[in-house]
Amino acid sequence: MSDIQSPAESTPSSDGPAQTMRALQFSEYGPPRDVIREVRIPVPAPGPDEVLVRVKAAGLNPYDWHFYRGDPYLVRLTTGLRQHRKPRVAGADFSGTVARVGANVTQFSIGDHVFGEQDQGGAVAEFVAVAAEKVAVMPQSASFEEAAAVPMGALTATAALRKSGRLESGQSVLVNGASGGVGVFAVQLARAWGATRVVGVCSGPNSELVLSLGADAVIDYTRENYWEREETFDLMVDTQHSQPLRLSLKAIRPGGTYALVGGGGGKLMGPGGPMMRALAQGIVRRHRVAGVMAKPSGADLATVAKLIDDGTVTVPIEAAYDWGDAAAAFERLESNRVSGKLVIRI
Ligand SMILES: NC(=O)c1ccc[n+]([C@@H]2O[C@H](COP(=O)([O-])OP(=O)(O)OC[C@H]3O[C@@H](n4cnc5c(N)ncnc54)[C@H](OP(=O)(O)O)[C@@H]3O)[C@@H](O)[C@H]2O)c1
Repeated sequence: MSDIQSPAESTPSSDGPAQTMRALQFSEYGPPRDVIREVRIPVPAPGPDEVLVRVKAAGLNPYDWHFYRGDPYLVRLTTGLRQHRKPRVAGADFSGTVARVGANVTQFSIGDHVFGEQDQGGAVAEFVAVAAEKVAVMPQSASFEEAAAVPMGALTATAALRKSGRLESGQSVLVNGASGGVGVFAVQLARAWGATRVVGVCSGPNSELVLSLGADAVIDYTRENYWEREETFDLMVDTQHSQPLRLSLKAIRPGGTYALVGGGGGKLMGPGGPMMRALAQGIVRRHRVAGVMAKPSGADLATVAKLIDDGTVTVPIEAAYDWGDAAAAFERLESNRVSGKLVIRI
């Protein structure tokens, strides 16, 4: 991956010969510098319910490294035990312009600025084909880099707060991992959707960021245990699962909800392990325990886009990388230390 060049512009044509594009692809499992390769492959042909997007920027998520590392092994049940059954293009989140629309697509036109999540992979490429229902028009005020940084983080925060968390106006919310890709949106969306008190758990250097997003207070996890405070919360959104469920539940009022997003877990099950344990234990306790399963949704992205345009939600980006520095971007992604989001310019 060290000799990645800037991608040449390619133009899809419906009647000409098959066009090709540059993409970052993998078929083996392993570290990014070993397994992710620049390839030239055909521009995907959008199906009748899909749009083809010329990608301008790709946003990164831990989801991406789970696939190229095959870690946890649970992932390999769907992708292949020793190597990927078929090569996969890296990345899920993207922003760009619509280059072609499928026959059944009426809500988008060629040239529209859009963003979305292709959960089958494919965002770190010149073009991505994706179901139109997973796409929304970009916030007018956002750059391509900002828009690409939104989808999975904001959709997961939406699922954690509204679907799993059943957040109601006037409630209090504790976000563990508040400075991460999901946490930065959970803090802001909790506030936007009526939480009267939002507290973020993060390390000292990230406190300023989390407070700037609207948190009332932060708990520096290197100095204080969030479960030992007197204060309890209606809802805890846990993106890190840094503590066993029995401790986290101490931070939630009786009848309140614990929404487990991810983090923790071993090589076999990854976050799926703690999630299943948490769900099993939740049955016998005085709290609601919910596992968050976020899905791509253009409708939910459109809601977030409005909140970005009216200034309620901002998009914190730690760094934007050029195509040739993608390996460094993926290595940083794996650190579990990213503040906000990472983006690759396409
Ligand atoms: N269930 C779903 O549908 C779903 C969807 C998306 C993501 N996920 C999962 O959710 C998890 C979080 O995703 P993400 O995008 O937010 O990850 P991320 O951006 O990589 O998270 C990094 C952040 O976590 C913070 N952090 C690390 N250890 C911490 C600790 N012990 N306590 C509090 N904060 C800590 C880091 O801050 P410091 O450097 O200050 O420690 C950093 O800001 C991942 O496991 C991901 O796979 C699940």
